Amino acid sequence: MEVVAIVGSPRKNGNTVIITTHTLKSIAEEGIETKLISLAGKEIKPCNACMACQESGECIIDDDFPPILNDMLDADGIILASPVYFGSCTALLKALMERAGFISRPRGSPFNRKVGGPLVVARRAGQNFTIAEINFWFHILGMTVPGSTYWNMAFGREIGEVANDEEGLRIAWNFGKNMAFVLKKTAQ
Ligand SMILES: Cc1cc2nc3c(=O)[nH]c(=O)nc-3n(C[C@H](O)[C@H](O)[C@H](O)COP(=O)(O)O)c2cc1C
Repeated sequence: MEVVAIVGSPRKNGNTVIITTHTLKSIAEEGIETKLISLAGKEIKPCNACMACQESGECIIDDDFPPILNDMLDADGIILASPVYFGSCTALLKALMERAGFISRPRGSPFNRKVGGPLVVARRAGQNFTIAEINFWFHILGMTVPGSTYWNMAFGREIGEVANDEEGLRIAWNFGKNMAFVLKKTAQ
């Protein structure tokens, strides 16, 4: 059983990586394998609506998307984590959601019944909208999203600040525990 977490920040080892690592530690403690993929430094172009994937099941855009898609397809659980950028997730994560979501239909809805969830960090505001935005992706693809002890958000601006948000860390940790619980209950 494996959970893959994709961090949509263009900043290496930033706050979103810190909070996501915390959740993955909580999941690993339950005997589930984990993998973190940072999109920092990677090129993920937006969907260009060429429709090629709807015929072939393959995306023809040449960038870093294919191996990340494969990791998402192989995983039992998927975490999509993002800092808030102008009240929304980052363009990098949005591009990934467009591409992975659109290619899933011609491939027979492979995300259906996987378990997922968002993790969101901001300096001040926009977490709730961003959580909802990411949850829409999980839900349209048939995925199950466990809750935590609050919405999966934390506060921080400069790199490392999120480590001071004790409640945010606790929420992220408890989300990991609930994700592991649902994964084990629904394992086929
Ligand atoms: C382009 C840009 C837009 C941002 N927009 C918001 C925002 O709308 N609300 C907010 O509270 N913080 C905003 N921030 C701050 C980041 O969400 C915050 O610094 C976060 O901790 C970054 O996470 P990271 O270290 O994982 O990159 C923005 C930062 C950048 C660079």
